Amino acid sequence: MRPLSIVLVFLFPFFQAAIASAQGNAEAGKKLWTSADARCRDCHGVQGEGAYGPDLAGRQLSFEQFRRAVRQPWGVMPAFPDNQHSDQELADFYAYFQSLPSVSAPGPWRTPVPANAPKGQELMIATLGCAQCHGAVLQGPRTNAGAVGAEFEWFKRMTYEHTTAMPEHRNVLGDAPGRVRMGNYSRTRAPEPVLEEIWRYLRDDLKFRVPLTSRVTAATPAGTFNLVVQNGGLAGKGLTAEDITISLALTPGTKVTNATGAGYQGVRNDPQRNADVAVWQVPRLGPKQNQTYTVTIASGGRIASGVVRWTKPASGTGTPDEIAVVIQPPAQTN
Ligand code: HEC
Ligand code: HEC
Repeated sequence: MRPLSIVLVFLFPFFQAAIASAQGNAEAGKKLWTSADARCRDCHGVQGEGAYGPDLAGRQLSFEQFRRAVRQPWGVMPAFPDNQHSDQELADFYAYFQSLPSVSAPGPWRTPVPANAPKGQELMIATLGCAQCHGAVLQGPRTNAGAVGAEFEWFKRMTYEHTTAMPEHRNVLGDAPGRVRMGNYSRTRAPEPVLEEIWRYLRDDLKFRVPLTSRVTAATPAGTFNLVVQNGGLAGKGLTAEDITISLALTPGTKVTNATGAGYQGVRNDPQRNADVAVWQVPRLGPKQNQTYTVTIASGGRIASGVVRWTKPASGTGTPDEIAVVIQPPAQTN
């Protein structure tokens, strides 16, 4: 070998490393890291400063080590396959973290374990990290469980085969198609008995929630608004909500001139919210059913907020059986 090629042979790995990181774009990496398309930050911190997962900012890993940690995680972290985050996107994340200084100590967990947490909740938060994304009472999963009448088999598939099982599930529920953000947990690091304990906590302590949603949209320029309440569950499988009360809070001085739809109760004063509220009552709303109403308000009026409450099925600990009405754009007249 001539001296030059010997030098090149020795330098080759360094060139490779330089190429791998040069391909990444730190700006693009930061953008994706903080976007709704990736939730890594729930475990690693908004700026990779570390939380439940280790700090990534300024960490001296090679790109290959970084990539392997994501595709074949060493421990409890779920795996993210390349149809979820491409190698290019991983290179962008890598470039972003290379551009940041290292941290002296990692940040706090996003969701800590509450005092006296039942076993299933503790496993869910601390052992598997589910709550770092889903919050301490698994609001999303328990509502989706209520939508499909979930069994343990469903829960297992959603955890171990998430990236293949989830798109199917979304289509069934008609959710907006978007990027799947949770990865696939390993059966060895998240063994079935642990998952079963978490499942029992979800099913028996938290209990499933009815997947109700509600929204107010403008129907006419003259001040009539549509109000829709719907149960997004699967026909024949999802939960039915019973004894439902819908109330829209009005800003002071707002007059309701007309309201339609079964169960309209009129406008009353709600001392709790210190506001006049227009109220409807619905005895029950099964999966795939919806109720639509209209409300007309006089010039200068505005719907400030809305809430839908139901009394059955009552969920367990954690959250009240209610949802906010989405009012967008602000429901007001001139
Ligand atoms: C559930 C929390 C969680 C999520 C979500 C998560 N990680 Fe991790 N990550 C960890 C933990 C914990 C480790 C430590 C090793 C292990 O347990 O697998 C880790 C390790 C890593 C490492 C190796 C760090 C080192 O110093 O060796 C990288 C790189 C990494 N994660 C990147 C990512 C990226 C990129 C994403 C999103 C696509 C992501 N992680 C999502 C928890 C998480
Ligand atoms: C990186 C954040 C993250 C972690 C960690 C995580 N999830 Fe998820 N999970 C999501 C998101 C986001 C969705 C919605 C679909 C998607 O984008 O992947 C989801 C969906 C689900 C679903 C399907 C029903 C639904 O709510 O859409 C179940 C069940 C579920 N997760 C359970 C778990 C369990 C159990 C764990 C822990 C073993 C866990 N998740 C860990 C983010 C996460």
